[in-house]
Amino acid sequence: MIILGIETSCDETAAAVVADGRQILSSIVASQIEVHHPYGGVVPELASRKHMENIVPVFRRALGKAGVDARQIEGVAVTRGPGLVGALLVGFSFAKAFAMSRRIPWIGVSHLEGHLNSLFLESEPPPFPFVALLVSGGHTNIYHVTDHTAARLLGQTRDDAAGEAFDKVAKMLGLGYPGGRVISQLADRGDPDTVSFTRPYLNKDEFDFSFSGIKAAVSRYLHKHPGSLQTRGPDIAAGFQEAVVEVLSYKILHAAEQMNCGHLALVGGVAANRRLREVVAGEADRRGLQLHIPSAALCGDNAAMIAAAGYHHLSAGRQSSPEEDVYSRQAEPFMNNREST
Ligand code: KG4
Ligand code: ZN
Repeated sequence: MIILGIETSCDETAAAVVADGRQILSSIVASQIEVHHPYGGVVPELASRKHMENIVPVFRRALGKAGVDARQIEGVAVTRGPGLVGALLVGFSFAKAFAMSRRIPWIGVSHLEGHLNSLFLESEPPPFPFVALLVSGGHTNIYHVTDHTAARLLGQTRDDAAGEAFDKVAKMLGLGYPGGRVISQLADRGDPDTVSFTRPYLNKDEFDFSFSGIKAAVSRYLHKHPGSLQTRGPDIAAGFQEAVVEVLSYKILHAAEQMNCGHLALVGGVAANRRLREVVAGEADRRGLQLHIPSAALCGDNAAMIAAAGYHHLSAGRQSSPEEDVYSRQAEPFMNNREST
């Protein structure tokens, strides 16, 4: 089944063509970084407008690169939420209209389900069940994943997401937006042991996270040590990154142990972080566990992962109705199944 995926939940306009939920025929991602960069974060209204400008050209490029005609698309999968409502609406309306005009089935899927399904676009996907750390600009969740469309939430952040903390600390360090990649590049030149920050919830027997404390500790350090930004920037970045990585890696490895899973995964934008990949890989190896991480391009937001998730819904006969709407964070059904499997 050839599926068109559409993703516009935040600041990337993306379209992809994926065969059978496994094979990427094309994946186009138009980033809006240059639009939001001057503001130090995503401006929702500007994001919606840019999606409107980008959606048709990005869709056309995806079809062109895949070498398929619109008539060959058999189903459509689109991000329904969570995300910025105005941004989501652009992709959602486009996908709905395309599917209805072509009279093909369509499905609105969770962005989080999409990130989890990015694993199945790689050559060695994990067998079910496995534990996954979904770590992005909006979420820091640990799941016990039992199927393509079924996962139990074991823990989540109580305040900032890990990527959000990277972005906010980058802003404090004057590094601009988005911050994850620049912080990790700066950290490469620093010593993680000279400036140490708090590690909230570490060693506690639970899977929830908190990152606002680490962020506040960096802010306090900068106030207490004026001029340190100029003299010790790389050490501060390295110390911050190390604190975040230590908490994330401890929790996901602990989850694998507790759930008795031999396979664990990292997904989402922050899973592109080199230090996180290295620490979790080393520890997984030591414990004889198998780690799965998508390539960096599939860690960040893309539409191929949405098409992959949608494939499993559509092939099980699930479809969205014309009345279906987008949702922001609050009404996330995929996240709410904390108690069920
Ligand atoms: O999954 P994603 O593209 O979008 C959301 O669903 O949020 O994740 C974006 C987040 C941003 O906060 C960005 O700073 C972070 O992922 N990020 C990184 C790295 N690359 C992107 N964080 C740490 N290290 C990186 N190398
Ligand atoms: Zn995402």
